[in-house]
Amino acid sequence: MSKNIILGIETSCDETSVAVLEQVNGRIQILSNITASSALIQSKYGGIIPEQAAREQLKSIIPVITEALAEANISQQDLDAIAVTQGPGLIGSLLVGVETAKVLATIWEKPIIPINHLIGHFSANWIDVGSEEGGRRTENLTPPPNFQPPTFPCIGLLVSGGHTDLVLFKNHGQYEYLGGTRDDAAGECFDKCARLLGLPYPGGPHISRLAKDGQEECKLPRPLINSKDFDFSFSGLKTAVGNLVKEQLNERSSKSFFSGVPETSQKNDAASESTLANLCTSIENAIVECLVKKTIEAAKCHHIEQIIVAGGVAANPRLSEELRVRSEELKIKLHIPPPILCTDNGAMIAAAGFFEEKRVDPKDLQANPNLSLAY
Ligand code: KG4
Ligand code: ZN
Repeated sequence: MSKNIILGIETSCDETSVAVLEQVNGRIQILSNITASSALIQSKYGGIIPEQAAREQLKSIIPVITEALAEANISQQDLDAIAVTQGPGLIGSLLVGVETAKVLATIWEKPIIPINHLIGHFSANWIDVGSEEGGRRTENLTPPPNFQPPTFPCIGLLVSGGHTDLVLFKNHGQYEYLGGTRDDAAGECFDKCARLLGLPYPGGPHISRLAKDGQEECKLPRPLINSKDFDFSFSGLKTAVGNLVKEQLNERSSKSFFSGVPETSQKNDAASESTLANLCTSIENAIVECLVKKTIEAAKCHHIEQIIVAGGVAANPRLSEELRVRSEELKIKLHIPPPILCTDNGAMIAAAGFFEEKRVDPKDLQANPNLSLAY
């Protein structure tokens, strides 16, 4: 029996997340996945203040590591390696994770595996969460019949707060970059539109919640949707939303969600509530349609029968439903991690560690805020 245990550390943005994952006979399972988030603080300021995020991470990194080991019921001797996000991300935040990993790797005498955060997101698709979302230890290691890890080749769509990329994976670590956003990322577009509507940061989940009760009253632009490449552009969408809000809302109700400042406590009347829901539906539909069209085109163009989706926006139910419908029509197998593994988490970093052969000496590892998928 081959068995491997990896500690994964993720601190690229505002979360401090640490996980312990075990691979037994090729099956990857979560033993623990602990996240401390400063989202409440970010939501108060309408976005991330990098220095503040790093300060919070500095406070929580050791307690989160301690809790992750305790919940996994293992000690450091049981670990085979430490995987850590090397980049891309905020430099202060990355340094907290990378420097901590270097210290631990040195004193525990463990190899260190540097992980590209974007590859980490994709790797969440290989985690077998069994029947329970987020994953728990199961003594019975017979794979449940409903989990099948992705196979190669596959098309990867990464949709996060900072990235929107399409890649063709030939194997782990072997991929061809197909295209990506030319300006704002899909998550960034959700967040900026939400801010225009006075919704708290991060806005994606709020738009997706409100959109459920809305109708697409006006059709927002779908930039580059018919371009013959695999690029995206979302910055024009927020301008269109700003104009639309100005046009559609009268002076009184517009104040409640075009102030540019989160005002969640403000009560809107029924009319403005439905206008808000309709706008959210229009925004969500426009973003989702662009993402689905290009992803399916990429699969068709390259004759690929598997799609893997990753990143915070992959938690959007409308995106997963649209992709599911189109994939089923074309007999493409679609993989999307459970929502808790779509947003930033240590489990995806540990999972990526099982597929990364690179090991570095702690003294040679440096955080790299500019790592990307494109080359
Ligand atoms: O992957 P992630 O946690 O962090 C980055 O690496 O950027 O992604 C965060 C992004 C934010 O823009 C957030 O608004 C978006 O994911 N997001 C969503 C949803 N949940 C998170 N966007 C749309 N619908 C959701 N349900
Ligand atoms: Zn991320």
